[in-house]
Amino acid sequence: MAIYLDHAATTPLRREVLDAMLPFLSEDFGNPSSGHAFGRKARAALDDAHERVARQIGAEAREIVFTSGGTEAINLGLKGAAWAGKARGHRIVTSAVEHHAVGHTLRYLEKFGFEVVELPVDRYGRVDPDDVDTALTDKTILVAIMLANNEVGTIQAIAEIARRVRARRGVLFAVDAVQAAPHLEIDVETIGADIVAMSAHKFEGPKGVGALYLRHGTHIVGQQQGGSQERHRRGGTENVAGAVGMAAAFDLACADRPETARRLRRLRERLQKAILTVEGTELTGHPKDRLPGHLSLIVRDADGASITVGLDLEGIAASVGSACTTGSTEVSHVLTAMGYPDEEARGALRLTLGRTTTDAEIDIAVGIVPRVVGALRVGQVAVSADPLGQGIGV
Ligand SMILES: Cc1ncc(COP(=O)(O)O)c(C=O)c1O
Repeated sequence: MAIYLDHAATTPLRREVLDAMLPFLSEDFGNPSSGHAFGRKARAALDDAHERVARQIGAEAREIVFTSGGTEAINLGLKGAAWAGKARGHRIVTSAVEHHAVGHTLRYLEKFGFEVVELPVDRYGRVDPDDVDTALTDKTILVAIMLANNEVGTIQAIAEIARRVRARRGVLFAVDAVQAAPHLEIDVETIGADIVAMSAHKFEGPKGVGALYLRHGTHIVGQQQGGSQERHRRGGTENVAGAVGMAAAFDLACADRPETARRLRRLRERLQKAILTVEGTELTGHPKDRLPGHLSLIVRDADGASITVGLDLEGIAASVGSACTTGSTEVSHVLTAMGYPDEEARGALRLTLGRTTTDAEIDIAVGIVPRVVGALRVGQVAVSADPLGQGIGV
């Protein structure tokens, strides 16, 4: 039996979500821009999807733009806001632990004269709100800070950061909530954001669909020229089935949230306790202010990639950190920013639980993960490929 503990990378598509999407992939195939009955049906479904996603975050339907995922939502929000604000200033403030969708987008903007200021984080990966205050100048047009970190699960003091940002007129606050949704309640007033990015595949919705919240009155420059779809903010025929799927997945996930969070916290703590009995292991990220099902560690004198291979051979899917950097030999910029030296950061391991994770799976994982982790510390048993998939015998 394979046990999937990589829900921060992606989640399985929920059956009810697939059922909600299927008509729009078959008989209800109309283009929402068409005036006839087929088009009207698609338009009604798309309007409903806007409304449902908006309702779950305390927004209005017109404030939601469907995109091709979290990355596009972030690109549209950040580039769009930067270009729209260029006449007022060129300074953008962010943190050192953002996902590459934010970090690389801002690096790109630097080529066009924007100044990007990266705030440091503490040992747990948290930004100090006072540092945000200090970094804001008259030339600042945008602050981009994530709600919860994908590699270490740490939740930022986002409302407090927002309070500092909002005290300055004309500075937009953008929040990458891709990992946070739906584990944390996202209310755009509470988190004080003007721009929020989310992605459906992180909560049992389809891949390749995301949503960008844009506070009413927030001006952005569209990044994709074409038709007037999504109120002129994103040209291109809409992915109706995807939007319907995202709305369905988000509704279901939000309804399940309190119960799922309680259960995942309990299961994660159990697995965490078992792994931390292994010498040389240390929890990374904040011990309390973290996503409920998110477990991240470093294993000293070990290579995280080898551990994930070892776990894979034993039927457990885990990762070293960000799915987007898996396969690269670079150490995590997140762990580096948190003060971990390269040799420790190389031992990064991430196990992320999801709604479908069961007690029985964690029972099995508790038996396997500490054993594999312990065995693969340097100087113990080297990982060896096991083409027959019979386990690594450790
Ligand atoms: C924090 C964060 N931001 C953005 C993204 C990108 O989202 P997507 O995969 O939908 O493009 C991810 C994906 O892992 C993420 O974890």
